[in-house]
Amino acid sequence: MSTFDIRRARPGDERCLSFLGQATMLQTYAGIISAQNLNDLIETEQTREDYRALLDDPNVSIWLAEIERGQAAVGYLALAPRLGGETTGGERGKAVLEIKRLHVLHRFHRNGLGKRLVNEAIKEARLRKADRVVLVVNALNHEAIEFYRTYGFLKTGDTSYRAGDMDYPCYLFSLDIGRPAIG
Ligand SMILES: CC(C)(COP(=O)(O)OP(=O)(O)OC[C@H]1O[C@@H](n2cnc3c(N)ncnc32)[C@H](O)[C@@H]1OP(=O)(O)O)[C@@H](O)C(=O)NCCC(=O)NCCS
Repeated sequence: MSTFDIRRARPGDERCLSFLGQATMLQTYAGIISAQNLNDLIETEQTREDYRALLDDPNVSIWLAEIERGQAAVGYLALAPRLGGETTGGERGKAVLEIKRLHVLHRFHRNGLGKRLVNEAIKEARLRKADRVVLVVNALNHEAIEFYRTYGFLKTGDTSYRAGDMDYPCYLFSLDIGRPAIG
């Protein structure tokens, strides 16, 4: 049985975040997003420079899940502020944080890593006095939808995500962080 550590990402982690981001994007969205749009997304959102900018942003928090043997990163979560607005189901004036990325390499699913990463995000959201944590999930991403539902996130609306020449249907999910977290 493997052991995993969760730690804060720091400057210097942009290389592993970029590789991990690219791998997990392909694992998650092949069969959901067209190859052209998926490759474009990876080239525009998953570069070392993109992650370096996120790591340098004091408002963005990123956690890495690392496997103890060899310390390879196998999952990550990025949390960023999202002040009210219809796109995330937030209410004006309410402090809303958004899970911008949450990915675990497929081979390591169902080891509790998603849950541990979300728990870190919830703890941070409480520290930052946020009212809720929101996210956007692709409507065909059934695994993630089940995971979020298990966790207590509720669907609050429909939206879409523009990738290349297509709008992909998505759902808005929201967790009131006044509720106790699981685990
Ligand atoms: C969503 C994701 C991060 C969950 O990570 P994970 O580490 O596998 O999840 P956990 O092991 O912490 O699961 C906790 C609980 O959530 C539920 N759950 C998780 N995945 C599930 C699935 N595919 N189907 C049904 N329930 C699921 C289960 O109740 C699980 O507990 P159990 O394993 O004891 O039954 C992972 O599936 C993933 O990386 N998916 C691809 C990327 C992605 O879609 N990200 C979301 C983008 S919005």
